[in-house]
Amino acid sequence: MFVLAAAAVALVAGAVASVAGFGIGSLLTPLFASRLGVQAAVVVVSVPHFAATVLRAWRLRASIDRTVLVRFGVASAAGGLAGALLHGRIHSPALGVVFGCLLVFAGLMGATGLSKKMRFGRRTAWLAGVVSGGFGGLVGNQGGIRSAALLGFDVSREAFVATGTAVGVVVDLARLPVYLATGWRDVARAWPLALATTASVLAGTLAGEKVLRRIPGARRLHVGALRFGFVKPIEIAPDDRVFVLTGAGISAESGVRTFRDAGGLWEQYRFEDVASPEAWVRDPALVWRFYSARRAQAKTVSPNAAHVALAELERALGDRLFLCTQNVDPLHERGGSRRVVHMHGELMKSRCERCDRPPFEDEALYETADAIARCACGGRIRPHIVWFGEVPMFLDDIARELAACTVFVTIGSSGAVYPAAGFVSRVRHARRVYVGPEEPDNARAFDEHRFGKATEVVPTLFSVRS
Ligand code: OAD
Repeated sequence: MFVLAAAAVALVAGAVASVAGFGIGSLLTPLFASRLGVQAAVVVVSVPHFAATVLRAWRLRASIDRTVLVRFGVASAAGGLAGALLHGRIHSPALGVVFGCLLVFAGLMGATGLSKKMRFGRRTAWLAGVVSGGFGGLVGNQGGIRSAALLGFDVSREAFVATGTAVGVVVDLARLPVYLATGWRDVARAWPLALATTASVLAGTLAGEKVLRRIPGARRLHVGALRFGFVKPIEIAPDDRVFVLTGAGISAESGVRTFRDAGGLWEQYRFEDVASPEAWVRDPALVWRFYSARRAQAKTVSPNAAHVALAELERALGDRLFLCTQNVDPLHERGGSRRVVHMHGELMKSRCERCDRPPFEDEALYETADAIARCACGGRIRPHIVWFGEVPMFLDDIARELAACTVFVTIGSSGAVYPAAGFVSRVRHARRVYVGPEEPDNARAFDEHRFGKATEVVPTLFSVRS
């Protein structure tokens, strides 16, 4: 009966590890420990763990970063070996308790995402490799710490998962012989359990990959997957200053098209043709037709729960909130926000192409070159929009607020357009949170991701302490 239950858990563990990159040790070791004791559990779990990790690494082999694997893998293997040797020496009941606590700690670090909050530089990452390998050897659970340590290396997202898995194989190769030498009796005693869970964990790995293929971008969610269900509001203390950067994603559920998603605006238009100074010189009527269509649409849309929630946050925080948007739509204002910094301009405003007359409210639609209004100075009226190649607005205010903020949140932006995409890298002193249904291009600069749509996440995102 126990073997059957363990096989079912192993199936799930294999699938979870396919998605999250780790999880087999976290799920199976406590279960085995309840029957075999912690020490024997670590040894027996290492068998299905090794099989599944080899399978995953083999499937991901094309993306492995070999340089990082060698540098980080050697440190991890050394730690794994040391941990495994120590593991074989722990016999006293008191040390067994310490051992169990470490196991729970390692599992919680991975499952809650705490491990990802730890940051290692290039120099300390190898040390983290030794520590994570050591955890692997000692309690059979190292995935969470390994992921955090790997963040210290500059690897692409695909290489991150693949290389982490390959490091897992290296650590297993270092610790398995020690386990088998010292704990072969445990494996021999529990061979039906080891065999059944190995088969199940392999089946789970393959099933998990099938599920992955159906969820676009799911592999990229990696560590985040295990954190569903552990989401707490961001506590804003009286001395916190919050910088919120919004992108097209916050208005998506109001019916405003984003730029780079499937069906986004840049799929239908080339931005060089409609949103650049060259386009304005070449064909101003085409530029105005593009922005007139955006204006016509903006008149029909309403703010959503995310816009409203940010307006409420402004009421609670006053000038401790800096709301900076890349959006040109007026939905933040319609949602009740009063101080919105539109760094890319405003759709419902125009200005003169020539003189420095201030921008003015303008909801007119211009369809032909002749229809384009003229300023008193004779210049043509152009959209009050920052085009590609132009400098975004309010950069001084933004720099000041970035330096002062303690919490930095980006909502619904692909992280593809600079300078906005680089703000997160300038606030290493602050807590950095990303909100959106997918990872943005600059994902690795954030501490946390709250995966979901803006209207689902933002209304309960903040808790303000008075
Ligand atoms: P993009 O279109 O590049 O990215 C939209 C982001 O919103 C994507 O990352 C989506 O995953 C996310 N998203 C989609 N639906 C969402 C939802 N319901 N809730 C939360 N997020 C969601 O838009 P931006 O990053 O804002 O510049 O684009 C930046 C700049 O590029 C724009 O300001 C514009 C554009 O070219 C100029 O026009 C100068």
